[in-house]
Order: sequence, then structure tokens, then C-alpha cells
Amino acid sequence: MIIILIGYMGSGKSAVGKALAEVLEYEFIDLDQFIEEREGRSISKIFENQGEIYFRKAESKYLSLVLEKSENIVLAPGGGTPCYGDNLKLLKNHSGIHSFYLKASIKTLANRLLSETAKRPLIAHLTSEEQIVEFIGKHLFERSAFYSQTDRVLETDEKSIQDLVEQIVLALF
Ligand code: S3P
Repeated sequence: MIIILIGYMGSGKSAVGKALAEVLEYEFIDLDQFIEEREGRSISKIFENQGEIYFRKAESKYLSLVLEKSENIVLAPGGGTPCYGDNLKLLKNHSGIHSFYLKASIKTLANRLLSETAKRPLIAHLTSEEQIVEFIGKHLFERSAFYSQTDRVLETDEKSIQDLVEQIVLALF
């Protein structure tokens, strides 16, 4: 079984994914980390040196590789992964996949991302809370059409990591 946690930057994909993988005794794969290891540099450096188009191509390539090679995993792709190329089609057509959208409000995301803009190239240029809120609002509006195609949508505001893990486990078994 492959469990995929979809969601915007800062939605908790990695934190929930790690905790879920531990409970299920599955391997946890963070796609950004996988890309960084294979490419030998950080996501920020890839954006800076080779640009976003190169990153998106690499992201698709490594997503296919992970799906081909893995059996029992919890996968946290990047926030943009389902929104580019054939990635969403790949996720929907691959057998044994269960996908969950970790849905968070603009306010929650902005609060979390405010102190983490430096390591996220798409928002690194934003300096005030107002700018971040406006950016996320527009971006999320474009992306929610992709995110909502997952098997289940989980509202995450006010929920702990443990609550979300329980909800996912209950939905799966
Ligand atoms: C991106 C999200 C990031 C990373 C890259 C682009 C996006 O991953 O893949 O900076 O397009 O939303 P996280 O969602 O893990 O921060």
C-alpha cells in the first residue's frame, strides 16, 4: 500500500507522514528530501541554479521512480507535485495508492510559513505577513482543483498530528 499525503507548503505532510509511517511500520519518503539526495543539492539551490522548470521535470522523474520501486510507504510529495505535468494522473492511476489532502486554512499556513520562507524558493521573496496571506490565497485557489482530487480531504486546523494519524488509519483499515 502506498499512502500519499498531499497539501500546500506548511500543511504538515512531513510531520504527519513520519508519525503515520511509524505507526504502520512503513517507510516514510519525503519527495523533496529524495530529490535533494539524488541531485546532491538543496531544493533552493536547484531553483536558483537550474530554475523551476528543471525542478518540475526532476520532481516528476523522481515521483515515478519512487512509485515504481516502493511497496509499503508513506509518501509526502512537495506542495506543487500534484499540480504539474502528468503527476496527478500518475497518482490516480497507480494501483494500491490511497491519497489524503491535508487541508489547512490560509491563516494557519501563513502562520507556519512566516518563519520558514528562506528554505522555500516560491515564497522566499515575501517579507510581510500580509504578502504571504495574499500569495497563499491566490496560489491555493489555483491549486485546490488538484488537491481536492485525492481520495479523502482532511481538515487539519485545530487537529494534532496524532488526531490526523488516527483519522487516516481509521479510513484505511
Ligand atoms: C513547492 C513545495 C515545496 C518544494 C518546492 C516547491 C510547491 O515542498 O517542493 O519548494 O510548489 O508548493 P513542501 O510542500 O514540502 O514545502
